Amino acid sequence: MDSLDTVYTEATAGLQQAKTVTELEAWHRDVLGRKGSVQLATRTVGQLSPEERPVFGKRINEVKRSLSDAYEERLAALKAAELRAKMAAETLDVTLPGRRSYPGRVHPSTLTLREIYRIWGDMGFQVYRSRDVESDEYNFELLNIPAHHPARDMWDTFHTTTPGVLLRTHTSPGQIHAMHEYCPEPIRVILPGMCYRYEQITARAEIQFHQVEGLAVGQNITLADLKGTLADFARRMFGPETQMRFRANYFPFTEPSAELDIECFLCGGKGCPVCKYTGWLEILGSGMVHPTVLRNGGYDPALYSGFAFGMGVERIAMLKYGIEDIRYFWANDLRFLEQF
Ligand code: PHE
Repeated sequence: MDSLDTVYTEATAGLQQAKTVTELEAWHRDVLGRKGSVQLATRTVGQLSPEERPVFGKRINEVKRSLSDAYEERLAALKAAELRAKMAAETLDVTLPGRRSYPGRVHPSTLTLREIYRIWGDMGFQVYRSRDVESDEYNFELLNIPAHHPARDMWDTFHTTTPGVLLRTHTSPGQIHAMHEYCPEPIRVILPGMCYRYEQITARAEIQFHQVEGLAVGQNITLADLKGTLADFARRMFGPETQMRFRANYFPFTEPSAELDIECFLCGGKGCPVCKYTGWLEILGSGMVHPTVLRNGGYDPALYSGFAFGMGVERIAMLKYGIEDIRYFWANDLRFLEQF
C-alpha cells in the first residue's frame, strides 16, 4: 500500500512536469504502460494477506482511473496549447504587400496597328491580309517597276535562294492581290504587315518594320478624296490640331504621288536631328493608282480610278508616343516595352 501511494504521488508530480505532448506520452508509457510503475506496483499483491488483497485491488483500480483521467485532461490541454502556439507563429500577415504579378502587354507596334485599324474601320476600310514572302513580279513588275528601273534602288531587299522570290519591301504588292480578288467590284481595304529592306540601321531606319497599305478603287475617285481621307486620318490619329503638309513625290505605281508629313513631335516644327532640321516627319507615301497598275489588277483605267497609300507604323508610333529611336522596337528591352 505504501509503495502504491508513493507511485501515485510521483506519477502525479511527473504529470505536471510534462510540458509537451511528447513528454506526456513518455510519462504515460513509464507510468501506465505494460512495464510502467503502476503495473510494477501491482506485483506487490503477492506479499499481502488474503484479507488485504481486495482492498488493494480496489485501490489500484482507483489509482489507474485517476491517473488516466488526469492524463487525458492534460493531453487535451497540451494539444490545445500547442495548436495555439503554432497558429500564433504561423499567422499570415495580410498587411504585407503582395507579390507582383506580370501580366503581358501589347507591343507598341501592335497598339498602334490596332488604333490604325479602328480609324480606317470607322471610315469603311476593311483589313486585307497579304503575304510577307513575295515574287519579284508582285513586289516590282506589276507595280510598274520593271527590272533595271532606277526606282528599284529605293527598295533593296533580302532575296531567298529561289530566284525571283524575296521578302516584300513594302505592302504595295498586296494592292495587286486585292485587285485580282475584288475586280470588278469597288475596293476599300487596308493591308497591314511587316516589310523588309536591306538598309543601314539608324535611329530612323530599320531592316524590318510594319506598314499599312491602303487602297480605294471605284468610279469617280479623285485626288481630293485622297487628300481629304488622309488628312482626316491624321487628325483622328494625332488630334484635331495636327499640322500636316502634302509634298509632291515620285512613285512608279502612283501618278500623281505625294508624301504626307506631320509636324515633328520633338521640336514642334523648329528643326532638330530627328526631323533632320526640317520640322517635319514623313509618315506615308500616297498617290492616285497608276493606270498601268489598275490594268495589271484587272480594272479598266478609262472607267476606274483609285488612290493608294503606304504608312510606316513605327514612324506613326514614334510621333504618337515621342519615341526618338526606331531601334527600340525590336531591341526587346523591357524598360522600353513596359512603358506601353
Ligand atoms: N510603297 C511605298 C513605300 O513603301 C508607299 C506607297 C504606297 C506610295 C502606296 C504610294 C502608294 O515607300
